[in-house]
Amino acid sequence: MDLKKLLDIKYPIIQGGMAHIANGEFAGAVSSAGGLGIIGSGGMDSNSLRENIRALRKITDKPFGVNLMMLRPDIDKLVKVVLEEDVNIITVGAGSYEKYADDFENKKIKVLQLISSPIQIKRYEALEPFAFIAEGLEAGGHIGQMTTMTLIPQAIAQTKRPVIAAGGIASGREIFAAEVLGASGVQIGTGFLFTKECPIHENYKNKLLKSNSSKVTVIGNINGIPMRVLKNKMTREYQRLERNNSLLELENFTIGRLRKAVVEGDVENGSVMTGLSIGSFNSVISVKEYIEKLMSEYREIKDEYKNKK
Ligand SMILES: Cc1cc2nc3c(=O)[nH]c(=O)nc-3n(C[C@H](O)[C@H](O)[C@H](O)COP(=O)(O)O)c2cc1C
Repeated sequence: MDLKKLLDIKYPIIQGGMAHIANGEFAGAVSSAGGLGIIGSGGMDSNSLRENIRALRKITDKPFGVNLMMLRPDIDKLVKVVLEEDVNIITVGAGSYEKYADDFENKKIKVLQLISSPIQIKRYEALEPFAFIAEGLEAGGHIGQMTTMTLIPQAIAQTKRPVIAAGGIASGREIFAAEVLGASGVQIGTGFLFTKECPIHENYKNKLLKSNSSKVTVIGNINGIPMRVLKNKMTREYQRLERNNSLLELENFTIGRLRKAVVEGDVENGSVMTGLSIGSFNSVISVKEYIEKLMSEYREIKDEYKNKK
């Protein structure tokens, strides 16, 4: 997988920039371990983003990135921080970065554009991003309509730029599968929730450990912003509102829910985002152990297939 060379990292693994979760310390642990740590700016204001970037740089001098959601009302301020702090890599979702494309190019920032359907590639190709992160609906958090298996080859057919696979990747076996599909590397979110350094409330971690993929559901289909989460009191109430079709109520209902679960540890009323790979995990290990496990499984399975020939 050529992502290692492209981003000057040891392993072709990106940690998803998760809102309210991926702070500088956590992303720093991922970068130190040879992956690409991403600070999730979702839930941070510009001061807090700057502090987190500086905190990460105290931990490691390895490459890292920042995740920016372009529809944020204060996106101008967050972009300013990224430019002033000389961040080299950004992952971009929820809207277009057209307004800042020249600034990013002048600073030689590598933009990794998130997509969930091949059609979006046409939309963003003109901005000349460095690569695309194609995320299938197996992922935790906000999702699209295509599976990783169908999305990756169709995305690759649309572009000459590197395509990084995300959604449902939890072990070395799936990394190898992503390589076979043509991906240059992988992005993982759910798997990193099961690490010691991941700063989610212990109630969140324990709830994940006790659950499996049959406990996972999707809410938000009706208002066009589907989100994959664990079933709980909140999702039952949300699905009741969905049946009653009260769009405004639905929108108000979700505000602050991820923070409630991640920070306050309220896993009944909060949004416990997780992907379908949840069933692959039953313990919490360090970021370094997880990344090394992923890579040794990947090498093992790759050798197994080579020997079968
Ligand atoms: C709890 C959680 C929060 C997330 N928040 C964000 C976010 O703020 N921005 C973003 O671009 N992606 C976000 N994602 C998606 C991840 O960055 C990543 O692409 C995804 O988790 C990959 O799929 P997986 O969960 O199957 O590993 C989030 C995912 C999870 C599980």
